[in-house]
Amino acid sequence: MSRQTRIKKAVFPVAGMGTRFLPATKSIPKELLPLVDRPLIQYAIDEARAAGIDEFIFVTARGKTALEDYLDHAPHLAETLRRDNKTSLLAELENTRMPSGSTAYARQGEPRGLGHAVWCARHLIGDEPFAVILPDDVIAGAVPCLKQMVDAYQTCGGNLVAAMEVAPEEVGSYGILETTHRNGPLCTVSGMVEKPSPKTAPSNLAVVGRYILDAAVLNHLARKQVGAGGEIQLTDAIAAEIGKSGVHGFRFAGQRFDCGSKAGFLRATVAYALARPDLRDDFRQCLDGAMHVRVAAE
Ligand code: UTP
Repeated sequence: MSRQTRIKKAVFPVAGMGTRFLPATKSIPKELLPLVDRPLIQYAIDEARAAGIDEFIFVTARGKTALEDYLDHAPHLAETLRRDNKTSLLAELENTRMPSGSTAYARQGEPRGLGHAVWCARHLIGDEPFAVILPDDVIAGAVPCLKQMVDAYQTCGGNLVAAMEVAPEEVGSYGILETTHRNGPLCTVSGMVEKPSPKTAPSNLAVVGRYILDAAVLNHLARKQVGAGGEIQLTDAIAAEIGKSGVHGFRFAGQRFDCGSKAGFLRATVAYALARPDLRDDFRQCLDGAMHVRVAAE
């Protein structure tokens, strides 16, 4: 590609039911669960901003109004913090503020899968390439993952999916890539399969929740073909572009935490707390003593 292609829009599919975090997610959207003190969605938004995104499309569902409130302005709260001279909290609050008109919402009527969620945003996406970020995949890196991908996209175009190697016994939880040519972090994808059995998986290179997609993917999603787990899978629609607009895998630099699972969320909490200058020392002491602590009920 000779010209720079600007990726302006990111889709955040947040319509899932988050059943693995019940009962908390009975009334709190999973994306608002805090990693230390910031909700998962904030990490995703900050990553998108760092990649130059300025249009934020959220695919929501019934029970997610708290998410819209979170993204709204909070003038009374801001005024109180200002009056009380709580400048660093005010700065945190201001960082959550989305410019007027930069957010849009599409509703997914029923949870028919990630592919269906992305398709629900089709009118807001239009016919330009767009990014997709799954907020429950938190990725820590010196350069934010989506920024790395936007840069790599300038050389490959087509469709780009974030990829990482997973343990062979875990392939059944992911979309798995079959690849041919490799060029640094980029590889050409010749096949993609959602949640394969470890016996038939083409590799252990898994897709994680960052994508840059050609709008043609939306046409495949429009067919509403049901795939693995009885859901409309994004993986299948991307795979249909192999040999057309093309699909590449991108081995990002960074550490990914699966915050859609309890163990992954706890791991991320420990890592992010230890990375915080204001918490690090206390928390390290707490962890050192943790083996001797027992919940009172035990
Ligand atoms: P997950 O399967 O990890 O999320 O979907 P979930 O269904 O909410 O979680 P569990 O398994 O019940 O605990 C990955 C992403 O896709 C979105 C989810 O919100 C999450 O960000 N998603 C999934 C939708 O928006 N709609 C769907 O129909 C399914």
